[in-house]
Amino acid sequence: MNLVTEVGFWSEIKLEIIREYASAYSQVLSAQKFPSLYHVYIDAFAGAGFHVSRKTGDWVLGSPLIALETIPPFKEYHFIDLDGGRASLLREAAGRYGSNVWVYEGNANQVLLNDVFPRVRYEDYRRGLCLLDPYGLHYTWEVVSTAGKMRSIELFLNFPVAAMNRTVLLRDPSVADQREIQRMTAFWGDDSWREAAYTTKRSLFGDLEKLENPAMAEAYRRRLQDVAGFNYVSEPLPMRNSKNAPLYYLILASQKPAASAIITDIFHKYRQRRR
Ligand SMILES: C[S@@+](CC[C@H](N)C(=O)[O-])C[C@H]1O[C@@H](n2cnc3c(N)ncnc32)[C@H](O)[C@@H]1O
Repeated sequence: MNLVTEVGFWSEIKLEIIREYASAYSQVLSAQKFPSLYHVYIDAFAGAGFHVSRKTGDWVLGSPLIALETIPPFKEYHFIDLDGGRASLLREAAGRYGSNVWVYEGNANQVLLNDVFPRVRYEDYRRGLCLLDPYGLHYTWEVVSTAGKMRSIELFLNFPVAAMNRTVLLRDPSVADQREIQRMTAFWGDDSWREAAYTTKRSLFGDLEKLENPAMAEAYRRRLQDVAGFNYVSEPLPMRNSKNAPLYYLILASQKPAASAIITDIFHKYRQRRR
């Protein structure tokens, strides 16, 4: 496995979106007085900290280094990666930015719940922006709903629709691997993903008909609002491969009305650019 990955056009767009939102978030939180707030950046699937652009061959900063370069800075940074090689490259790169940076090697779900979220309690006047950007169905609903209940943490989520289609949302769901089904249930929070993913209509061949990707992303968006308790959840923004098929959606889940206007603006700009 390569520790440093090559990134395509859409990953570069994703990183630009993260850069813009992190900067706006940090400006708003730094300006807040009475009470003043202590704001934290969390990157749960952080990677090594840098990538190589497929298009130009140049180095591209990854999301954790983008966060470290944000002005005004966050008060603390927490980065997690399961891969020891990536965590140590990131530790080295992040070491140049000062002492308020924690790099954990471990499973993001456990580290978030046990070590990081307890440092960002609402009643301590702390707030956090947490990026969940995995390759597959790797974060759990427990993490997402805990962040929603805490009311101090915003989530920037990668909703990995291509990974779902490949592993569990098959045309014939009965042939899906049991472990993948369990992973999907842990990701979604319960079994209701089955209703969200399939209609009761049958195709000519007798299979249940699968719903389209946007319907799936919208069903998850509603869960973030209605079940996890986020006041504001953005419209999902599809991020595509070179054949224009959605790989994943970006979704912002927040308690703050201000987040709504900011992310709508940013997403709008990138939708226009795609056209
Ligand atoms: C899409 S990459 C992250 C890219 C990064 N957000 C960026 O934009 O620069 C996903 C990372 O998650 C890590 N990973 C996979 N499973 C994990 C888990 N359960 N907990 C923490 N990290 C994990 C992988 O090693 C990989 O570095």
